[in-house]
Formats: sequence, C-alpha cells, structure tokens
Amino acid sequence: MVRKITAWEKIYGERGKVFEEVDERVKKFTNSFMTWKCCRVLDIGCGNGRHCIYLAKEGHHVIGLDVSAHGLKIAKKWMLEEKLIVHLVLGDMAFQPFKNLSFDFLICMYTIYHAPIKKIMKTINENYRILKENGVGLFTLLSTNDQHYGKGKEIEKNTFLQPERVLGTETQHFQYHHYFNEEETRQVFSKFEIIRLKEFKIMEKNTLRFYWEIIIKQKK
Ligand SMILES: C[S@@+](CC[C@H](N)C(=O)[O-])C[C@H]1O[C@@H](n2cnc3c(N)ncnc32)[C@H](O)[C@@H]1O
Repeated sequence: MVRKITAWEKIYGERGKVFEEVDERVKKFTNSFMTWKCCRVLDIGCGNGRHCIYLAKEGHHVIGLDVSAHGLKIAKKWMLEEKLIVHLVLGDMAFQPFKNLSFDFLICMYTIYHAPIKKIMKTINENYRILKENGVGLFTLLSTNDQHYGKGKEIEKNTFLQPERVLGTETQHFQYHHYFNEEETRQVFSKFEIIRLKEFKIMEKNTLRFYWEIIIKQKK
C-alpha cells in the first residue's frame, strides 16, 4: 500500500515525543465512566501514546490506532520502557480494522477534525459500528470560535488547509482542520446519545484555543 506522508508523520520524525502530559478530560472521563478494570478501549489517533500509557496503567486493555508510523514507533518505545502492554495499529481512522461491537470505550483526542467532513463522517460511522451497546466515547473537536478559524485555504465549508501547530508553535507542515459549531457537532454525532457537550479553552503557548469536548453513548 502507498501511504501518504502526513504532517504528523513529519512532526514526529523531526521532534520525537511531542505529547507527555495526560489531558485532564481523559482523566475525568476515565474516573467517571471506566469504573471497572480491563475495559476494552480504543485510542483513535493515539500519536506518541500518552493516553494509551495512562489507560494501560489504570488497568485497561488498550488499543492505539494512528496513521503515523513514526508516532507509533515512539509510543512503542515508551511502552517498553514502562513495561506496559498496548496493542498499536497503523491505520486510518476512517477504516478501522476491528470487529463490530468490539470496544467498551473510545477516545479520540485532537484528531478527528484533521479531515474533510466526508472522512469525519466515515470515521464516526466506523465508531458507531465498533462500539458496544452502551459503550461510551470521548472526542475533542476544533470550535468555530477558535482564532484560527477562517485562516488558510478553505477547501470546503469550515475545512481549511493550515499549518499544523505543536503545543502552540506553527510548523511548516500543512494539514486539514475542520472547525465545528454546536449545531454541526450535534448533527454529526446524532446516531449516538450525547451525554455531554461543552466548549473549552486551553492556553497553547500564548494563544487561547477553543475546542469542543463531546461524550457520546452508543444507543443501538
Ligand atoms: C494533535 S495529534 C494528537 C495525538 C493524541 N491523540 C494526543 O492527544 O496525544 C493528532 C494525531 O492524529 C493522527 N491522525 C491524523 N489523521 C489521522 C487519520 N486519518 N487516522 C489516524 N490518525 C490520524 C496524527 O498522526 C496524530 O498522531
């Protein structure tokens, strides 16, 4: 298979491990919903593995999926250092190589918006297929209130080709960014029950970024 070299593949290749701290939303999600041991959880766009490591340490059965071979290599090295077992899968979020109804939980942090809307919808349909009944998922999405909304080349409504940023610093590598308002967020996840939808802000270097946090439940 010919694999496209993505912005993130280049970023991990140049910088190595870029994310170390566990996102506070993942900690809260784990404490609130993953209340038994050995939950089967998929981390979509796991990158260099910070959340896979955290979830494995919490006693869960973790699978990480990412399109970047470099990201997964860094994740694998980190896991071996920590003596943890996590299954890492090289693949695209829109084609998830997993059986129907095979996960109790999903997390997809700062990833799903790196695509045009058709691919985002394909990914959400895949998530619907692989999540068990009553399974719960956590996603973060870019908000149209973010200051980078509208910048770069608009390739379709609300999707822009923009330089990727790493912890607030602009790189030379370009990536699609789809920005969501509340209405579109509800619409794209309408197959699921929406348990929580909240806009949040984080400081990345000196820039305030706006995202959505959405927690959904499978309702087959
Ligand atoms: C901003 S990083 C976030 C990484 C990780 N979720 C975290 O919070 O540390 C975005 C990640 O999404 C991955 N990614 C982008 N497009 C993808 C796709 N189509 N399928 C799978 N992973 C993808 C990138 O390789 C990168 O690791």
